[in-house]
Amino acid sequence: MPIPQSFIEQLRMSCDIEDVVSSYVSLKRAGRNKTCLCPFHSEKTPSMVVYEDTQSFYCFGCGAGGDVITFIRRIENLDYVEAVKLLASRAGLTVPEDGQSDRTSRLKQRILELNREAARFFHSCLKSPAGQKGMAYFKKRQLSPKTITAYGLGYAPDSWDSLRKHLFQKGFTDEEMYAAAVVAKGRNGGYYDQFRNRVMFPIIDLRGNVIAFGGRVLDDQKPKYLNSADTPVFKKSRNLFSLNFAKNEAGGRLILAEGYMDVIAIWQAGFHNVVATLGTALTPEQARLISQYAKEVVIAYDSDGPGQAATHRAVGLFEEVGVSAKVLGITGAKDPDEYIKKFGTTRFKMLIEGANSVADFELHKLRQEFDLDTEDGKVEYLKKAVQFLSGLINPLEREVYAGKIAGEIGVNRETILAQAKALAAKKKKAQDKREWREIETNRAVYRDRINPQRAKFLKEAKAEEGILAFVFKNPDSLEYIESRLPENGFVTDFNARVFRIIKDKIQKNITLDLTAVSGELSPEEMGRVAGIIAAAEQSENTKKQLDDYIDVLIQHNNKVDSGNVGTLSPQEIYERIKQSKQK
Ligand code: UTP
Ligand code: MN
Repeated sequence: MPIPQSFIEQLRMSCDIEDVVSSYVSLKRAGRNKTCLCPFHSEKTPSMVVYEDTQSFYCFGCGAGGDVITFIRRIENLDYVEAVKLLASRAGLTVPEDGQSDRTSRLKQRILELNREAARFFHSCLKSPAGQKGMAYFKKRQLSPKTITAYGLGYAPDSWDSLRKHLFQKGFTDEEMYAAAVVAKGRNGGYYDQFRNRVMFPIIDLRGNVIAFGGRVLDDQKPKYLNSADTPVFKKSRNLFSLNFAKNEAGGRLILAEGYMDVIAIWQAGFHNVVATLGTALTPEQARLISQYAKEVVIAYDSDGPGQAATHRAVGLFEEVGVSAKVLGITGAKDPDEYIKKFGTTRFKMLIEGANSVADFELHKLRQEFDLDTEDGKVEYLKKAVQFLSGLINPLEREVYAGKIAGEIGVNRETILAQAKALAAKKKKAQDKREWREIETNRAVYRDRINPQRAKFLKEAKAEEGILAFVFKNPDSLEYIESRLPENGFVTDFNARVFRIIKDKIQKNITLDLTAVSGELSPEEMGRVAGIIAAAEQSENTKKQLDDYIDVLIQHNNKVDSGNVGTLSPQEIYERIKQSKQK
């Protein structure tokens, strides 16, 4: 391991897991521990627990878990060394250099250099005679030269190898290009340019690195947009287009658009606080990212059906991360880009200023469905409106809208409110039930990738897990366990590996906690280990229990042995019997 264990121990002392976790999600006290909504899957009732005394976390919903380093790896999408560096800088510590820099971080560095070079290449192509088609396209879309420069837009030539050749010249290899996803691999194993005859949008992260590209066709061929695949430096679901510009302009408020061209058009209209997702629907991670820069977001999606449905889903995600959402009501144009062209910047500005609260947006939509001049219409509207109210979390907001509805159809506000409250309580109960059921079914159909042998040897695997949890809590018991357990006594490979790692730490006199083992396990594997330990919290962990676990493994090993008896010589069989009598 490149980072000395002593430093890891120091780091662990300086980074309290509660502090670190609470800078991402809000923690609530629950007895001795704290709980929170799990940031690694979507939920409305908390199932993640942060354990103060073991400095670990575990989500009973999705199985994410581990120590503080694992938490950072997962939430920031970093590898081990990067996570250690981030935590160290947070704690004001410097990671001791060992001269030999880590391989993956070197590859990432190379990919970033390569991407920058590719972006330069695309940009210069756009400005060269070969890029005339691309330039004409941007002109048609009414982008100014200033905008083109600011976004570093480009053009990928209509050729199979112009970028590849260029990058070769600059000293990059096919493997590096492939890792950066700027070339694809053909059936015969050859490489060719991924982006051809497209206008190019570089995607830039918060540190100014070019991390990926989007490319648009010049006509109406399909696919209209091609986005870089995920690479070691890029994960679609965690980045936002133009956040590098928007973060400094946010002032607590961001505009969220659907695509590249909308963002650029809005930016050109003078709103620099605009971002878009990258060819996918908004993800929980992106909503959380936005929440770091803005308290309020204006959703400026397309005015068509899918755009409105996406708006609805986005509203839900923002609610979960505590960002208040407003919705832009675009009429007379299909998207912000078209709206700005048709009606101009000033009208767009008015639209933004007058953006409706989400509640207004939903209520307005609802009202249009019913004829409020008839009794039936009123009753049906009232039913739906109560449902709508029950979905509002903020009590003040609920009261305001209850008042509005009451006025509309001439009924008592308090009655409406009481009904909405009752319905909300009922929904909450149903929601809890649903989440639990989901957890159960997930468990049932779950293909265990971490310990694939577990289902087949369930009894043994559970015994192994009992032993692992025991030795974790009582490192002194290692000697006893080893005296009873045959060599290679663990049945499942994963648990055997964890046992070996733990044993190694104990023998090296390293304080045994999750951080001690997290350098050798992936975040997913850490989740499993944290789960094993969390499960043991609920049982007594007596010596008697430990003996029972060991017996299960001994029995299994004996069974396997007797199954092999046929291949043994009489002498060997005799030795076996003698041995087992001694135990
Ligand atoms: P739209 O089809 O609404 O595109 O897709 P647009 O932004 O209006 O594009 P123009 O105005 O025709 O140029 C919205 C977003 O969905 C993703 C892209 O991120 C796009 O910006 N998308 C769309 C793809 O990733 N692939 C596609 O084939 C189409
Ligand atoms: Mn468009």
